[in-house]
Amino acid sequence: MPYSYEGKKVLITGGAGGIGAAAAEAYRQAGAQVAAFDIAFGREEERDGVYELPVDLADPASVAAAFARLWERWDSLDVLVNNAGVECVASLEETTDEAWDRVMNVNLRSVFLCCRAALPKLKAARGNIVNTASQLAFVGASSFTAYTASKAAVVNFTRSLALETAKDGVRVNCVCPGAIDTPLLRRQFEGRRGPQGTLDDLVGMHPLGRLGRPEEIAACILFLSGPAASFVTGSALLADGGYTIQ
Ligand SMILES: NC(=O)c1ccc[n+]([C@@H]2O[C@H](COP(=O)([O-])OP(=O)(O)OC[C@H]3O[C@@H](n4cnc5c(N)ncnc54)[C@H](O)[C@@H]3O)[C@@H](O)[C@H]2O)c1
Repeated sequence: MPYSYEGKKVLITGGAGGIGAAAAEAYRQAGAQVAAFDIAFGREEERDGVYELPVDLADPASVAAAFARLWERWDSLDVLVNNAGVECVASLEETTDEAWDRVMNVNLRSVFLCCRAALPKLKAARGNIVNTASQLAFVGASSFTAYTASKAAVVNFTRSLALETAKDGVRVNCVCPGAIDTPLLRRQFEGRRGPQGTLDDLVGMHPLGRLGRPEEIAACILFLSGPAASFVTGSALLADGGYTIQ
Protein backbone atom coordinates (compact mmCIF):
# COMPACT_ATOMS: atom_id res chain seq x y z
CA MET A 1 0.00 0.00 0.00
CA PRO A 2 1.80 3.16 -1.17
CA TYR A 3 -0.12 5.57 1.10
CA SER A 4 -0.67 5.80 4.83
CA TYR A 5 -4.06 6.86 6.13
CA GLU A 6 -3.28 6.05 9.78
CA GLY A 7 -5.53 8.12 12.04
CA LYS A 8 -7.77 9.29 9.15
CA LYS A 9 -11.53 8.85 8.92
CA VAL A 10 -12.97 8.16 5.47
CA LEU A 11 -16.61 7.98 4.36
CA ILE A 12 -17.38 6.23 1.06
CA THR A 13 -20.77 6.10 -0.63
CA GLY A 14 -21.62 3.02 -2.65
CA GLY A 15 -19.16 1.08 -0.52
CA ALA A 16 -20.92 -2.29 -0.80
CA GLY A 17 -19.69 -3.28 -4.21
CA GLY A 18 -17.49 -2.60 -7.21
CA ILE A 19 -15.20 0.43 -7.02
CA GLY A 20 -16.56 1.55 -3.64
CA ALA A 21 -15.81 -1.77 -1.94
CA ALA A 22 -12.32 -1.80 -3.47
CA ALA A 23 -11.70 1.75 -2.21
CA ALA A 24 -13.01 0.85 1.27
CA GLU A 25 -10.61 -2.07 1.42
CA ALA A 26 -7.69 0.00 0.15
CA TYR A 27 -8.28 2.75 2.74
CA ARG A 28 -8.66 0.12 5.46
CA GLN A 29 -5.38 -1.52 4.46
CA ALA A 30 -3.76 1.91 4.52
CA GLY A 31 -4.79 2.33 8.14
CA ALA A 32 -7.93 4.49 7.87
CA GLN A 33 -11.14 4.13 9.80
CA VAL A 34 -13.76 3.60 7.11
CA ALA A 35 -17.53 4.14 7.03
CA ALA A 36 -19.67 3.27 4.02
CA PHE A 37 -23.17 4.28 2.95
CA ASP A 38 -24.99 1.91 0.62
CA ILE A 39 -28.54 0.87 -0.16
CA ALA A 40 -27.32 -2.72 -0.44
CA PHE A 41 -26.35 -3.02 3.25
CA GLY A 42 -28.99 -5.00 5.15
CA ARG A 43 -28.33 -3.36 8.49
CA GLU A 44 -25.99 -1.09 10.38
CA GLU A 45 -22.94 -3.05 11.44
CA GLU A 46 -19.16 -3.04 11.69
CA ARG A 47 -17.92 -5.66 9.25
CA ASP A 48 -14.36 -6.41 8.09
CA GLY A 49 -13.24 -3.14 9.66
CA VAL A 50 -15.83 -1.03 7.82
CA TYR A 51 -18.76 0.68 9.55
CA GLU A 52 -21.64 -0.04 7.17
CA LEU A 53 -24.78 2.09 7.13
CA PRO A 54 -27.82 1.27 4.97
CA VAL A 55 -28.78 4.47 3.13
CA ASP A 56 -30.84 5.34 0.09
CA LEU A 57 -28.81 8.18 -1.35
CA ALA A 58 -31.73 9.13 -3.60
CA ASP A 59 -33.71 10.07 -0.48
CA PRO A 60 -32.60 13.27 1.32
CA ALA A 61 -34.22 12.12 4.59
CA SER A 62 -32.29 8.84 4.49
CA VAL A 63 -29.04 10.74 3.83
CA ALA A 64 -29.69 13.14 6.73
CA ALA A 65 -30.48 10.24 9.08
CA ALA A 66 -27.28 8.43 8.06
CA PHE A 67 -25.10 11.47 8.75
CA ALA A 68 -26.82 11.93 12.13
CA ARG A 69 -25.87 8.32 13.00
CA LEU A 70 -22.34 8.79 11.71
CA TRP A 71 -21.79 11.93 13.78
CA GLU A 72 -22.89 10.04 16.90
CA ARG A 73 -19.90 7.78 16.28
CA TRP A 74 -17.34 10.11 14.69
CA ASP A 75 -16.63 13.71 15.67
CA SER A 76 -14.44 14.35 12.64
CA LEU A 77 -14.05 13.40 8.99
CA ASP A 78 -10.96 13.61 6.77
CA VAL A 79 -12.12 12.27 3.41
CA LEU A 80 -15.50 11.98 1.68
CA VAL A 81 -15.66 9.74 -1.40
CA ASN A 82 -18.89 10.22 -3.36
CA ASN A 83 -18.84 7.05 -5.40
CA ALA A 84 -22.36 5.56 -5.51
CA GLY A 85 -23.90 5.55 -8.94
CA VAL A 86 -26.49 3.89 -11.11
CA GLU A 87 -26.57 3.43 -14.85
CA CYS A 88 -29.49 4.04 -17.16
CA VAL A 89 -29.24 2.43 -20.59
CA ALA A 90 -32.19 3.55 -22.70
CA SER A 91 -32.90 5.64 -25.74
CA LEU A 92 -34.16 9.12 -24.91
CA GLU A 93 -37.71 8.23 -25.88
CA GLU A 94 -37.62 5.14 -23.68
CA THR A 95 -36.23 7.03 -20.68
CA THR A 96 -39.02 7.43 -18.14
CA ASP A 97 -39.34 10.37 -15.75
CA GLU A 98 -38.63 7.94 -12.90
CA ALA A 99 -35.46 6.59 -14.51
CA TRP A 100 -34.21 10.13 -15.23
CA ASP A 101 -34.88 11.23 -11.64
CA ARG A 102 -33.25 8.12 -10.20
CA VAL A 103 -30.03 8.69 -12.14
CA MET A 104 -29.90 12.38 -11.30
CA ASN A 105 -30.73 11.81 -7.64
CA VAL A 106 -28.22 9.02 -7.05
CA ASN A 107 -25.40 10.21 -9.31
CA LEU A 108 -25.66 13.97 -8.81
CA ARG A 109 -27.98 15.16 -6.03
CA SER A 110 -26.46 12.72 -3.51
CA VAL A 111 -23.05 14.27 -4.21
CA PHE A 112 -24.49 17.68 -3.30
CA LEU A 113 -26.27 16.31 -0.20
CA CYS A 114 -23.22 14.45 1.12
CA CYS A 115 -20.82 17.32 0.43
CA ARG A 116 -23.14 19.76 2.22
CA ALA A 117 -23.49 17.46 5.22
CA ALA A 118 -19.76 16.70 5.45
CA LEU A 119 -18.20 20.09 4.67
CA PRO A 120 -18.15 21.54 8.20
CA LYS A 121 -16.15 18.55 9.45
CA LEU A 122 -13.95 18.47 6.32
CA LYS A 123 -13.15 22.17 6.78
CA ALA A 124 -12.27 21.58 10.44
CA ALA A 125 -9.92 18.73 9.43
CA ARG A 126 -8.67 20.45 6.23
CA GLY A 127 -9.82 17.27 4.59
CA ASN A 128 -10.92 16.62 1.04
CA ILE A 129 -13.48 15.15 -1.34
CA VAL A 130 -13.18 12.71 -4.23
CA ASN A 131 -16.17 12.19 -6.53
CA THR A 132 -16.50 9.31 -8.98
CA ALA A 133 -17.54 10.70 -12.34
CA SER A 134 -16.87 8.78 -15.59
CA GLN A 135 -15.06 8.99 -18.90
CA LEU A 136 -18.60 9.49 -20.23
CA ALA A 137 -18.53 12.95 -18.64
CA PHE A 138 -16.34 14.02 -21.57
CA VAL A 139 -17.74 12.16 -24.56
CA GLY A 140 -21.24 11.25 -25.64
CA ALA A 141 -22.67 7.74 -25.65
CA SER A 142 -25.84 6.77 -27.48
CA SER A 143 -28.61 5.59 -25.10
CA PHE A 144 -26.78 7.09 -22.12
CA THR A 145 -28.20 10.64 -22.10
CA ALA A 146 -29.24 10.67 -18.43
CA TYR A 147 -26.05 8.96 -17.24
CA THR A 148 -23.66 11.12 -19.27
CA ALA A 149 -25.48 14.30 -18.25
CA SER A 150 -25.26 13.32 -14.58
CA LYS A 151 -21.54 12.57 -14.81
CA ALA A 152 -20.69 15.75 -16.75
CA ALA A 153 -22.51 17.65 -14.02
CA VAL A 154 -20.43 15.92 -11.35
CA VAL A 155 -17.24 17.11 -13.07
CA ASN A 156 -18.31 20.75 -13.11
CA PHE A 157 -19.77 20.49 -9.60
CA THR A 158 -16.30 19.31 -8.56
CA ARG A 159 -14.60 22.31 -10.17
CA SER A 160 -16.99 24.84 -8.68
CA LEU A 161 -16.86 23.39 -5.17
CA ALA A 162 -13.06 23.22 -5.41
CA LEU A 163 -13.04 26.99 -6.05
CA GLU A 164 -15.43 27.58 -3.18
CA THR A 165 -13.48 25.55 -0.59
CA ALA A 166 -9.90 26.30 -1.65
CA LYS A 167 -9.67 29.08 0.94
CA ASP A 168 -10.55 26.52 3.63
CA GLY A 169 -7.82 24.12 2.52
CA VAL A 170 -10.40 21.58 1.32
CA ARG A 171 -9.47 20.01 -2.02
CA VAL A 172 -12.18 18.58 -4.28
CA ASN A 173 -11.36 16.25 -7.18
CA CYS A 174 -12.96 13.57 -9.25
CA VAL A 175 -11.83 10.34 -10.85
CA CYS A 176 -13.22 9.44 -14.27
CA PRO A 177 -13.06 5.69 -14.87
CA GLY A 178 -13.43 3.96 -18.21
CA ALA A 179 -15.12 0.57 -18.34
CA ILE A 180 -14.36 -1.17 -15.05
CA ASP A 181 -15.24 -4.79 -14.40
CA THR A 182 -17.96 -4.31 -11.74
CA PRO A 183 -21.59 -5.41 -11.28
CA LEU A 184 -22.70 -2.06 -12.77
CA LEU A 185 -20.86 -2.78 -16.01
CA ARG A 186 -21.84 -6.47 -16.18
CA ARG A 187 -25.55 -5.53 -15.78
CA GLN A 188 -25.40 -3.61 -19.07
CA PHE A 189 -24.51 -6.76 -21.01
CA GLU A 190 -26.63 -9.39 -19.25
CA GLY A 191 -27.77 -11.65 -22.07
CA ARG A 192 -27.78 -8.90 -24.68
CA ARG A 193 -25.79 -6.51 -26.79
CA GLY A 194 -25.58 -3.09 -25.20
CA PRO A 195 -25.79 0.12 -27.22
CA GLN A 196 -21.99 -0.06 -27.44
CA GLY A 197 -22.22 -3.61 -28.83
CA THR A 198 -20.89 -6.61 -26.93
CA LEU A 199 -18.59 -6.53 -23.94
CA ASP A 200 -15.73 -7.40 -26.33
CA ASP A 201 -16.66 -4.39 -28.49
CA LEU A 202 -16.48 -2.19 -25.42
CA VAL A 203 -13.10 -3.63 -24.47
CA GLY A 204 -11.93 -2.79 -28.01
CA MET A 205 -12.79 0.88 -27.44
CA HIS A 206 -10.09 1.00 -24.74
CA PRO A 207 -6.58 1.28 -26.28
CA LEU A 208 -5.12 -0.65 -23.34
CA GLY A 209 -7.25 -3.55 -24.63
CA ARG A 210 -8.95 -4.65 -21.43
CA LEU A 211 -11.44 -3.64 -18.77
CA GLY A 212 -10.13 -1.77 -15.75
CA ARG A 213 -10.16 -3.33 -12.31
CA PRO A 214 -11.91 -1.74 -9.31
CA GLU A 215 -8.57 -1.73 -7.45
CA GLU A 216 -7.05 0.46 -10.18
CA ILE A 217 -9.71 3.12 -9.59
CA ALA A 218 -9.34 2.75 -5.82
CA ALA A 219 -5.63 3.54 -6.28
CA CYS A 220 -6.54 6.79 -8.08
CA ILE A 221 -9.00 7.72 -5.33
CA LEU A 222 -6.39 7.14 -2.60
CA PHE A 223 -3.87 9.21 -4.57
CA LEU A 224 -6.31 12.12 -4.98
CA SER A 225 -7.31 12.20 -1.30
CA GLY A 226 -3.76 11.92 0.04
CA PRO A 227 -0.72 14.15 0.60
CA ALA A 228 0.83 13.10 -2.74
CA ALA A 229 -1.97 15.15 -4.38
CA SER A 230 -1.63 18.16 -2.06
CA PHE A 231 -1.49 20.64 -5.01
CA VAL A 232 -4.31 18.94 -6.94
CA THR A 233 -7.79 20.43 -6.73
CA GLY A 234 -10.68 20.74 -9.16
CA SER A 235 -9.13 18.07 -11.34
CA ALA A 236 -10.80 15.24 -13.22
CA LEU A 237 -8.36 12.33 -13.31
CA LEU A 238 -9.11 10.14 -16.31
CA ALA A 239 -8.44 6.46 -15.60
CA ASP A 240 -10.01 5.09 -18.75
CA GLY A 241 -7.42 2.92 -20.48
CA GLY A 242 -7.17 5.61 -23.16
CA TYR A 243 -10.88 5.56 -24.11
CA THR A 244 -11.10 9.34 -24.53
CA ILE A 245 -7.76 10.02 -26.25
CA GLN A 246 -8.67 8.54 -29.65
N1 LIG B 1 -18.02 0.24 -13.74
C1 LIG B 1 -17.75 1.13 -14.67
O1 LIG B 1 -17.45 0.78 -15.81
C2 LIG B 1 -17.80 2.60 -14.36
C3 LIG B 1 -17.28 3.49 -15.30
C4 LIG B 1 -17.30 4.85 -15.04
C5 LIG B 1 -17.84 5.31 -13.84
N2 LIG B 1 -18.35 4.42 -12.94
C6 LIG B 1 -18.91 4.97 -11.71
O2 LIG B 1 -18.25 4.40 -10.60
C7 LIG B 1 -19.13 4.41 -9.49
C8 LIG B 1 -19.16 3.04 -8.87
O3 LIG B 1 -19.70 2.15 -9.84
P1 LIG B 1 -19.45 0.58 -9.84
O4 LIG B 1 -19.11 0.22 -11.22
O5 LIG B 1 -18.56 0.20 -8.72
O6 LIG B 1 -20.96 0.12 -9.61
P2 LIG B 1 -21.59 -0.95 -8.64
O7 LIG B 1 -23.00 -1.12 -9.08
O8 LIG B 1 -20.71 -2.14 -8.56
O9 LIG B 1 -21.54 -0.18 -7.26
C9 LIG B 1 -22.32 0.96 -7.02
C10 LIG B 1 -22.77 0.94 -5.58
O10 LIG B 1 -23.67 2.05 -5.39
C11 LIG B 1 -24.75 1.58 -4.61
N3 LIG B 1 -25.95 2.37 -4.83
C12 LIG B 1 -26.69 2.45 -5.96
N4 LIG B 1 -27.78 3.20 -5.74
C13 LIG B 1 -27.73 3.61 -4.45
C14 LIG B 1 -28.58 4.39 -3.63
N5 LIG B 1 -29.73 4.92 -4.09
N6 LIG B 1 -28.23 4.61 -2.34
C15 LIG B 1 -27.09 4.05 -1.85
N7 LIG B 1 -26.25 3.30 -2.57
C16 LIG B 1 -26.57 3.08 -3.86
C17 LIG B 1 -24.96 0.14 -5.06
O11 LIG B 1 -25.69 -0.62 -4.12
C18 LIG B 1 -23.54 -0.35 -5.26
O12 LIG B 1 -23.00 -0.96 -4.10
C19 LIG B 1 -20.48 4.88 -10.01
O13 LIG B 1 -20.64 6.25 -9.72
C20 LIG B 1 -20.37 4.65 -11.50
O14 LIG B 1 -21.21 5.50 -12.23
C21 LIG B 1 -18.33 3.08 -13.17
